[in-house]
Amino acid sequence: MTVEKAATAAAANMAPLPSAAPAAPDARPHITVRGLSKRFGATVVYDKFDLDIPRGRFVSVFGPNGCGKSTLINIIAGLLPADEGEILFDGKTLRQTNFGYVFQNYREALFPWLRSIDNIRYPLKFFNLSKAEQRNRVDRLVEHLGVKIDLNRYPYQLSGGQQQLISIMRSLVIEPEVLFLDEPFSALDYEMTLFMRDQLQAVFLETGTTMVFVSHDLEEAIYLADDVLLLSRGPARIADYVTVRNPRPRTAETLSDSDFVQVKAHCLDVFQRLVRGS
Ligand SMILES: Nc1ncnc2c1ncn2[C@@H]1O[C@H](COP(=O)(O)OP(=O)(O)OP(=O)(O)O)[C@@H](O)[C@H]1O
Ligand SMILES: [Mg+2]
Repeated sequence: MTVEKAATAAAANMAPLPSAAPAAPDARPHITVRGLSKRFGATVVYDKFDLDIPRGRFVSVFGPNGCGKSTLINIIAGLLPADEGEILFDGKTLRQTNFGYVFQNYREALFPWLRSIDNIRYPLKFFNLSKAEQRNRVDRLVEHLGVKIDLNRYPYQLSGGQQQLISIMRSLVIEPEVLFLDEPFSALDYEMTLFMRDQLQAVFLETGTTMVFVSHDLEEAIYLADDVLLLSRGPARIADYVTVRNPRPRTAETLSDSDFVQVKAHCLDVFQRLVRGS
């Protein structure tokens, strides 16, 4: 399938995309990381690392293998303890914040014994909502996203991309303030990856949720991002923080737009220097 066809397929499966960009981001940072230090044995991954992530932005994290991308989002999301440092969400702690996390391996992330609808609904059990309210939330999300999948199917009856879409919906049903995604498409084939990029972009445009997205694919990282955070290796530093100004929704044409190509060339240059150590 070509890029154009995949984009058309995405459009056919989704409600029409709004043509306007998301609301102007709040100037205050949504997530602040201060003095983060983390080591694994002798490996110092972070040493007094600071970062601000603005509200309502799509931030892609890119950098060499093993530089600490997963460690960063896992610490911010509370899946991994920091050795030192403070992480605040609008001044609040993680425990006071609703967030979602989409894993790379969707096969292990969904409950195989639950129908898709029950997988999506699962986190709402912890929110003290009535059955009717739970149903309403899921119905609203399905309608909002224009998803056409038969949600009575079990995960094994869905394609890889559809399963990953179910796990994204499961993370969205709690209406998170922040969504973390660690290489969510890397286990999908190319056709499905193109399709899922556009699905995720549509979710972002619809919800305005702050997104922190790790990718090992530079073009994908830029295509989806408002900002690209380029990390250096050990201990990780911010090598560059690049804003992507292409209007949304981004499409196959965006990839050949001169601004896009320029940003990609710049990021590639920074990345190659990091890898060469120059
Ligand atoms: N549980 C662990 N025990 C020991 N070392 C670890 C552990 N988790 C990560 N590391 C090390 O910490 C560093 C950062 O790992 P991390 O997984 O965050 O990198 P990454 O940027 O996500 O890499 P990749 O691009 O391969 O996904 C690496 O050197 C890795 O080997
Ligand atoms: Mg990783």
